[in-house]
This record gives sequence, structure tokens and C-alpha cells, in this order.
Amino acid sequence: MPDFGDNGDFWLFGYGSLIWKPPPHYDQRVPGYIEGYVRRFWQASEDHRGTPEAPGRVVTLIDRAHWETLVDHHDSLPTEKVWGAAYHIPAPKVPEVRAYLDIREINGYSIQYTPFHPASNQPNATKSHPEPIKCLVYIGLPSNPQFLGPQDPQELAAHILKSRGPSGENKEYLYMLETALLDLSAESEDRHISDLASRCRKLEVSESKGPSRSEVLGQLEVESGLHKVGSTEEQEEVEK
Ligand code: BEZ
Repeated sequence: MPDFGDNGDFWLFGYGSLIWKPPPHYDQRVPGYIEGYVRRFWQASEDHRGTPEAPGRVVTLIDRAHWETLVDHHDSLPTEKVWGAAYHIPAPKVPEVRAYLDIREINGYSIQYTPFHPASNQPNATKSHPEPIKCLVYIGLPSNPQFLGPQDPQELAAHILKSRGPSGENKEYLYMLETALLDLSAESEDRHISDLASRCRKLEVSESKGPSRSEVLGQLEVESGLHKVGSTEEQEEVEK
């Protein structure tokens, strides 16, 4: 792996919002992947897609060896590769970009370095990058206070749907991430993300329809103090 930053430049790997919202001042954007991690919506967001009072949910990367020790409802889903986009930051712009990222990503994320593999369908991918590229990546480690650990997928989707913060609705982050991933390559879908997005869309449809007839009847029963009974006689008995 070539030495990082020999010329004072650096490469940054984005696996979340950086995929569709690039840093300022990059001169190359390369789709590709890293290995040895699992992407999960397990990081609380108090500063972008939620607030300190009602944190939203954003993605972080979990070291694969650690993830294998956890109980995860999505355990059959992760592929070996975490797809995203790498950005080359030219040397003169490094201080400005680092300052921008430190502010943008500060809520619990730490800096790590990892080898990045450009997608094979990139023009001149192996010619211009014969070796993996050492990339800086922001990771919300399990030790950070915003790290939540395994989440029930349906509860997570419902939580994302109701959350919002200074950067906008949490569901927009999820949908943008799903689309940005699908745009990277033919094999870059992340099923944890697409499954959550699909659950969220279904919830949106059912919420826009309002409660079903049986839900309304159930609610009426609760409010009137009546209980479901098995026969007309029993019902009359109860209503008396
Ligand atoms: C990312 O897109 O890679 C990212 C964004 C925010 C925090 C950490 C990572």
C-alpha cells in the first residue's frame, strides 16, 4: 500500500452521507469498497438527523470480528465489502477539509485508516491505482457514547421515520444513502440499508392511509371500556 500523504495530500473514504454530499475541494471521486467492516444504522445522531432530546439514527462501521460476537437481526445480510466513495484531497486544501470534517463528523466518530479498493469498472482503476489506497475513514467505535449496538429492524425503521434534526429528516438520510449506494456499482447494494428503506416506505404508506377499521374499532372498545366477547349473549351481558 503506498504511503499515505507523502505529498501532503490524502484520501478520504465515505460510507454514509459523504457518498452523496462530498467534502469541499476534492479533485477525484472513486467508487469502491473497503473490507473487514459491517455498516449498520447503530449510531445515534444528536447533531444532524436528530437532537440531543430526540437523537436520530445514522450509520457507523463495526469491525467485522467484533460484529460476529453480537446478536444482529440482520446477521444474514452483510457482504464482505462495504461500498462507498473515496475522495482525493489535494495538499493545499487539506487543512481546510480536515477542519470542515472535524466539525461535520464530530459527534462520536474517530479517525481510522483502511485500504480502499477502487471498483473494477472504473476507467483505468488498476492502471492508476494498482494497489489499494490508504484512506482516512470516520468510525463511531463501540466505545463512543453515541454507539447503540444491535437494533430491532422494524423499531429502527419506525424511529428513523419520526426523527429529524438540523440537517433534515432522518428518513431522507436513509433514502439518499440507499440511492447513492445503488448508483455506485452493480454490486454495491447494502441489504441492511435497502431493507430498512423498504420498511420505512411501508410505514409511510400505512401512516398516510390512517388507522385500519379494526384498529379504529379496537380503540373505540378501549375508550368505551368494552371488551371483545365471543357471542351476542355474552356481549349483551357485558353491555348491561
Ligand atoms: C461517511 O459518510 O463516511 C461519514 C459521514 C459522517 C460520519 C462518519 C462517516
